[in-house]
Amino acid sequence: MSMITLPLPRIRSDVLSVEQALAYRRSHRSFKDEPLSINDISQLLWAAYGLSMPIKGFLTCPSAGATYPLELYLVVGTEDVELSDSEFLEPGSYRYLPKYHVLAYVKPGHIKEEIHRACLSQKWVLQAKANIIISADYERTTRYYGERGIRYVILEAGHCAQNIYLEATALGLGAVAIGAFYDEELGEAVGLREGVQPVYMVSVGIPRHRYYLNEEALHEHIRRNRRRKGLV
Ligand SMILES: Cc1cc2nc3c(=O)[nH]c(=O)nc-3n(C[C@H](O)[C@H](O)[C@H](O)COP(=O)(O)O)c2cc1C
Repeated sequence: MSMITLPLPRIRSDVLSVEQALAYRRSHRSFKDEPLSINDISQLLWAAYGLSMPIKGFLTCPSAGATYPLELYLVVGTEDVELSDSEFLEPGSYRYLPKYHVLAYVKPGHIKEEIHRACLSQKWVLQAKANIIISADYERTTRYYGERGIRYVILEAGHCAQNIYLEATALGLGAVAIGAFYDEELGEAVGLREGVQPVYMVSVGIPRHRYYLNEEALHEHIRRNRRRKGLV
């Protein structure tokens, strides 16, 4: 299996505060036809499910009992992710391995078109330059927590998706969460391991329009809402 070693993740950054990332995060469904860089992919995957406490093997995502049931896959099309000047990641699906911060090439080909169909042909899935499929091996968590483990896995996928949303915002990119898909079709297209099921997906690209929230305007809206409710 061929491996792509990702650029090492950057932690130091003075681009946006957490509050700004929360305020400017929106779901984007219209993307420019420009590639993402491999640095973007590195940061997005690290934020999603990267190593953050190496001694214990703990990741950026909280995980019930630190069971870490999620497996992240990246699907890209032709010339969607630039490695260096006019060199691109091969189209297909890749599995992200947090411990080594690498991508393992799982399946070559036009997978993006297949996952687009599996996602009810939502056009932003095709327009996006990176589709991150959050899948899970439920057994890793249900082994300890029984039925309740199913809830824990789904909650963890939500944490993971939010990490991607916020990192995308901090990088000036746009993301949209995708929950509408045919599980079996998506899992098969991506080439998930036996026993692993797709839970959630996030599509990322360069947004055509950025969202900005002005603090004074926000305060004014909250004050007006309070006045209307008789709270002042
Ligand atoms: C569980 C879940 C599933 C979603 N599935 C889709 C989807 O399949 N397609 C889509 O375009 N947006 C999807 N969204 C995004 C929502 O439509 C979006 O978050 C909502 O309209 C609020 O907009 P905002 O994210 O800009 O705040 C999903 C969001 C969540 C939380």
